[in-house]
Formats: sequence, structure tokens, C-alpha cells
Amino acid sequence: MKNRSVLGLGLESSCDETAASVVADGATILSNIVSSQIDIHRAYAGVVPEIASRAHLETINGIVDEALRTAGISFRDLDFVAATSRPGLVGSLLIAMQSAKAVSYVCGIPFVSVNHLEAHLHAAFFENPSLSYPFIGLLVSGGNTALFEVRDIGQMKLLGRSSDDSVGEAFDKVSKFLGLGYPGGPVVDALARKAVIRKNIFPKVLVKYDDYSFSYSGLKTAVINHLRANPEADLAEVAYAFQESAIEILLRRTFAAARSLRIPRIVIAGGVAANSRLRELVIGTAERDETVFMPSPGLCTDNAAMVALAAHRYFTRGITHGLDADVAARIQYGVA
Ligand code: KG4
Repeated sequence: MKNRSVLGLGLESSCDETAASVVADGATILSNIVSSQIDIHRAYAGVVPEIASRAHLETINGIVDEALRTAGISFRDLDFVAATSRPGLVGSLLIAMQSAKAVSYVCGIPFVSVNHLEAHLHAAFFENPSLSYPFIGLLVSGGNTALFEVRDIGQMKLLGRSSDDSVGEAFDKVSKFLGLGYPGGPVVDALARKAVIRKNIFPKVLVKYDDYSFSYSGLKTAVINHLRANPEADLAEVAYAFQESAIEILLRRTFAAARSLRIPRIVIAGGVAANSRLRELVIGTAERDETVFMPSPGLCTDNAAMVALAAHRYFTRGITHGLDADVAARIQYGVA
């Protein structure tokens, strides 16, 4: 097998998913194992960092074994091992990083450290091998809302990001206020589909500014104030209106960037890219010469296949990292 394919093991533990994946040649997923901690954190309506890192520690060895077993390979077949190093919860990031470094050291194979946001945006290559650089990348997750011009692997120029809450956080907080539980995105998405009156009652978010920034705390507050003032409001209609406002700004900024930079390829990735209304509206917004690539929902949320794919691109260019590489809660934006 080794002579035919380059096999990479990717590990991911930046938030509340412990994941391991074996990917061949940076393109074919041989295994993609994800263990979610959602049930553990549900009682707190959000991720508790200390609990998350302990749960990663308990889970990671079993997940790695399962990824190798499912792929039908052993440690000695691997060409490199990779892990997400940034951004994320530091205690959580450390678990995948240290595990990957241990595999690298014991097996004598290179280690590659990967930016989580870059990995998310590269997940689109699995199902769309025709995708090419440069592309406009919209990253919408629980931790981040940011728009990039992706010029190549390792070259992401930040165009704009949220100045306060991420869009995923807004979904989660609105859901919590509606008493719908955690994580909020999928429940709000499903509830909004049941709205009979489909009207956008909330203020348009930042659309008057001609830049690529985002903001979600005002919208979240508007939803909460509306519910306090109208306790009998139909929750499905509130969910619908919130979702429309939240998505409108994402699409407006993304397509504006694509058109002004004359880059007709757009990738939308991260947990919120699983939103059914977003996926629907994207189709209606794209013009004939524009192609929007969105990973299937299972590859939008946190996974390690995307880590192995991004790492493969570094590895094949001879870029690997030392075992002294560190984790970081945040990243420096810019071209990097
Ligand atoms: O990328 P992700 O799995 O984890 C990180 O934050 O890194 O994203 C999780 C976020 C959560 O805020 C969740 O509520 C949101 O993605 N989400 C959705 C949907 N599915 C997940 N938001 C809107 N609609 C969805 N269908």
C-alpha cells in the first residue's frame, strides 16, 4: 500500500469533537471517525473547556485505533501524522497535538501542524477535486465567522470577520433563549422550516457598511428583546426571521468579495454551512459564472479528514513541523 498511496493520519480535538481520520493521497478518505461530546456539554448549554479536554484524553486512543482499523492499516503504514494546532481551546488542542507528536516520534514519521480554519476550507476539495486556487472562503462555525481570500495552502488573506459573536454562537444563544437546547443550529434550522408566516422582522445586520465585516450580538439582542416584548410570539416564525437575517449578511459579504476580487469560486465551510436555508439561498444567489462549493454536512462540522487533507498539501511540499510546535487559542490573521 505504501508504494501506491501517501497515507496521512489526521487528528482533531480543538473544541468538543475528538476525531481521527486516515486519508490517502490527500484525497480519498479511508476512515473518518468522530466522537462528539455534545451529550456531555448539553447540560451546560455550551462547551465547558476543562470537561472537554478531559473527555478528549479519555477518548483519543480508541478513536485513533478505530481510524486505523477502519482504514485497514497499521501505524507502520503511515507516511505522516497531523493535528490541529490552532485556533481552539488550548486544553483540548493539546490532546490531539500531543498524541500526534507521540505517533510521529515512535513511528519516525513527519509531524504536520494544521490551522483549523484552513482545514475547514480545504474540506471542500474532497467532493470537488476540480476546485482550484484562488477561492473566496467563508468560514462559519461555533468559534469563527470570517471571510478569506485563499490563494494557496498556507496563504489565506483575511477579508473580514465578526467583531463580536460568531454566527454559530448566535444560533446557539438564540436557541438557548428559545429553550431549544444545545447545539442550537440544527434545532433552529428545523424549527424555522415550520414557520407559517415567513417575514423578516429583525434589523438587517451591518448591511449598510460597505466592507467585509460581520456582527451578531445586535441581532441576538434584537431576538431576545422581541421575545421578551412578545411572549406569545410564534417561535418558528422568530426562528425563521432570525435565520434570514443571520444568513443574509453572510451571503451579501461573500458574493460582494467574489465579485469585487473577480474570483468566481466560493467555498463555504464550518458547522453553520450545514444550515439548510443557507444552502438553499446560495443556489439562488450565485450567478452563472460563479461556483459555490460546500462540503456535505458531515464534512462541514469538525472532523479530522480535513486536517489530513490540508496536512498532505504541506507534506507534499516538504513542509513539516518540529515536535516543539505549540498550540494557540487564536491565530494571527493575514497571509500565512
Ligand atoms: O464547525 P463546528 O462543528 O465546530 C466549531 O465551532 O469549530 O460548528 C459548530 C456550530 C455550532 O454553533 C452549531 O450550532 C452550528 O455549527 N450548526 C448549525 C447547523 N448545524 C450546526 N448552525 C446552523 N444551522 C445548522 N444546521
